[in-house]
Amino acid sequence: MLIDGFGRKHDYLRVSVTERCNFRCHYCMPEKPFSWVPKENLLSYEDLFKFIKAAIDEGIKKVRITGGEPLLREGLDQFVKMIFDYKNDIDLALTTNGFLLPKAAQKLKDAGLKRINISLDSLNAETAAKIAQKDVLATVLKGIQAADDAGLKIKINCVPIKGINENDILDVLEFCKNKNYVIRFIEFMENNHAKDGAKGLNSDEIKAIVSTKYPNFKTVPRDTSSPAQYYELEDGFQFGIIEPHKDDFCAQCNRIRLTAEGYLIPCLYFEDAMSIKDAVRNNRIDEAVAILKKVLENKPEKNKWSTKDDNKISTRAFYETGG
Ligand code: GTP
Ligand code: 5AD
Ligand code: SF4
Repeated sequence: MLIDGFGRKHDYLRVSVTERCNFRCHYCMPEKPFSWVPKENLLSYEDLFKFIKAAIDEGIKKVRITGGEPLLREGLDQFVKMIFDYKNDIDLALTTNGFLLPKAAQKLKDAGLKRINISLDSLNAETAAKIAQKDVLATVLKGIQAADDAGLKIKINCVPIKGINENDILDVLEFCKNKNYVIRFIEFMENNHAKDGAKGLNSDEIKAIVSTKYPNFKTVPRDTSSPAQYYELEDGFQFGIIEPHKDDFCAQCNRIRLTAEGYLIPCLYFEDAMSIKDAVRNNRIDEAVAILKKVLENKPEKNKWSTKDDNKISTRAFYETGG
């Protein structure tokens, strides 16, 4: 079992396969990085898989593939299949912007993918284009439908940004309600890669907007394995808010991140990381597992967004860590 220095059990591994992306979201990657990591610096699927196998043997029960945009890396369905074939009862999931899903969804499902989380910040084509800096909405909606048709379980992520998509919250909620998709609104996490001046809506502001249409919703007891707090409308539909600025957000954290370059990162808001690249490339898997345990020992108790610390701007890019 993987336990950190605060006694938290870790059974969720997020694996980023690329930091590259075909969108330039305001809150994540408004400018292309000065240069992309050269492909030869990335771990191959085989090397990532060596680590994933060892992590599963140590108690990981949920593996989520992230990016950047993970579908930009060729052969992703083969990678999914490698993991599925190793242990088919793993909760195997993907986080994507949805743009490449129209073609990929069925292949991913056939390879063993179970769940998919897709970003949808607005149902207005112009607003969606403003956020991603590209005309994306129609294709993303096709991608969501393709995932649904393929039988993947769908969650929608929406990051409300002031002055941009705050008026789209109810539309996105309504869309998910009609389709019966899980919806989570995410509080923007301040970082120095986002667009200058970007300001997110906090949980109370999001709830105030929802209550203009649905005045009576109740708080659902928090499921500790999920980062979201859910609220239930009178008709039983639930919406979630990921509230990383809340004091107790990290209390039950169960996740660890591996970047495409082989860095293990214990928290989204954490400046240090340790590399397993050499160890896995040279088949020293025990050493990689020892590094994993060391990283967990050093995991901070909380992210800084939820503390009273003045410096709350993370220097870590979400597109590197996989969100
Ligand atoms: P589920 O398995 O469906 O619960 O997925 P998830 O919410 O873990 O995955 P997803 O990639 O959809 O994550 C949604 C977003 O929640 C992330 O990209 C982050 O923005 C936020 N989030 C998830 N985990 C953490 C965390 O440990 N710390 C912080 N600060 N935010 C997190
Ligand atoms: N704050 C909050 N959420 C973010 N995401 C990306 N960057 C940020 C940020 N700075 C979200 C994306 C995607 C998920 C992986 O993370 O919208 O849904
Ligand atoms: Fe790309 Fe996702 Fe970042 Fe948007 S949030 S730029 S889709 S990695």
